[in-house]
Amino acid sequence: MIKNICCIGAGYVGGPTMSVMAYKCPEINITVVDLNAKRIAAWNSDNQADIPVFEPGLADIVFKVRNKNLFFSTNVEEAISKADMIFMSVNTPTKEYGKGKGMAADLKFIELCARQIAAVSKTDKIVVEKSTLPVRTAEAIRSILNNTGNGVKFQILSNPEFLAEGTAINDLLNADRVLIGGEDSPEGKVAIEELTAIYAHWIPRDKIIHTNVWSSELSKLTANAFLAQRISSINSISALCEKTEADVTEVAKAIGADTRLGNKFLTASVGFGGSCFQKDILNLVYICKSLGLEEVAEYWDQVIKINNYQKHRFADNIISTLYNTVSGKKIAFLGWAFKKNTNDTRETPAMYVADFLMNDLANICVYDPKVSETQMYIDINHLNSRTEEDNSKYLTMVSDPYIACKNAHAVVILTEWDQFKELDWKKIHDNMMKPAFVFDGRNILNRKDMEALGFKYQGIGK
Ligand code: NAD
Ligand code: UGA
Repeated sequence: MIKNICCIGAGYVGGPTMSVMAYKCPEINITVVDLNAKRIAAWNSDNQADIPVFEPGLADIVFKVRNKNLFFSTNVEEAISKADMIFMSVNTPTKEYGKGKGMAADLKFIELCARQIAAVSKTDKIVVEKSTLPVRTAEAIRSILNNTGNGVKFQILSNPEFLAEGTAINDLLNADRVLIGGEDSPEGKVAIEELTAIYAHWIPRDKIIHTNVWSSELSKLTANAFLAQRISSINSISALCEKTEADVTEVAKAIGADTRLGNKFLTASVGFGGSCFQKDILNLVYICKSLGLEEVAEYWDQVIKINNYQKHRFADNIISTLYNTVSGKKIAFLGWAFKKNTNDTRETPAMYVADFLMNDLANICVYDPKVSETQMYIDINHLNSRTEEDNSKYLTMVSDPYIACKNAHAVVILTEWDQFKELDWKKIHDNMMKPAFVFDGRNILNRKDMEALGFKYQGIGK
């Protein structure tokens, strides 16, 4: 029976997944470790608002279990050494250098973890891949563990995470399924059962799927590719709607009523963001290319191409609608996060749209309920090659949506925060330059209501 768990990586996955696991399994001690001391200090903060991951319901759970059976620490070695089971939940971003640059997953953090586990372990352990990894990564991990370890035995499981940010706690508590890939050997089966028994504390056993390791690794990339493909599919149709007076919301409703298609993930938007869809599809494309499957690679690459097209098309439309010039014009951005109910900004469409408009010398003023100004500048400075001074000249953030919109020529909605629907839009209109434009990148406002207030309104695909 598993008594001690170590999770390496206290990020958007490690933090929430281990909090829920600790909450549901009071008899198991879980230590979440990270090299980032600031992040660990934030997880240990006495103030709920300082928990580094904003996720509805998360802080409540953390405060119920922290320092009872859930611990956050920077002492990676001690936590590994004590653990019977180790989750690797480190980041696997797109490589920014060398072979596979811009496409392959950067596995240096995973390899470091494996080497550290091998170096420290004195007792047998189950090592669980929680990070999203290219298919067959477990082979490399096994080789490192077995060749650099102290002769102790390791079982490697793949247990990819399917939570979405903004709904992570609900997704974890009520998962559609839990996927566990393991080796078809007596030891492999024992390891699979140990992990299954943990999830069975709150997930019905018939929702816990067992596969071989490679199927599990590949299923994660495939799930994200299929989800992103649906968004690119509806976004491609949104462009056609704008040329034909069809309404993409009506089209989505009509096709989503077909139970074979289903009605989820059909919301047309400025494009998908987030840390994973793009990186995982790029990785899938890279794997296919590496294996000589050019046609398959090209097929999935189109999902990314349409997403880039959509962000670009949206920004381009703002410029052409504003009489082909945004130079010196104030443009208000409502939202910087990549979706509502998260403070995560990785690959947020907002930064691409901002960058595009800044090329045309627009003055952008952003309001987001959860994203800090510091984070916004980290994002934009990493994205473009302008000087930091230039970026801070053309891009600013305020803590009040009405101030963001005051004297603006246009309001652009980049994140679908519920509170944006509740704003006093008449007041916003009164204080804007005329004609006052709204570009609704998330289709959260009602065209008729906005036009009744005097706005010139443009949604996506309508
Ligand atoms: P993250 O960047 O938020 O967190 C990763 C953490 O790992 C960082 O805090 C980093 O400091 C730490 N880390 C890296 N190397 C380390 C090491 N050797 N020792 C200790 N700590 C180390 O990333 P994330 O969003 O939590 O994603 C983690 C993995 O989960 C990725 O593979 C991602 O694709 C996958 N995933 C993410 C989500 C999501 O919603 N964010 C959902 C499902 C799967
Ligand atoms: C996504 C998947 O949904 C998770 O199952 C997966 O675990 C995770 O990636 C991961 O591997 O990281 P996440 O990126 O957190 O989760 O959020 P989503 O709800 O999938 O949204 C991603 C992006 O697509 C957001 O920018 C969102 O606004 C956009 N989106 C989503 C649309 O434009 N239209 C939709 O219909 C749905």
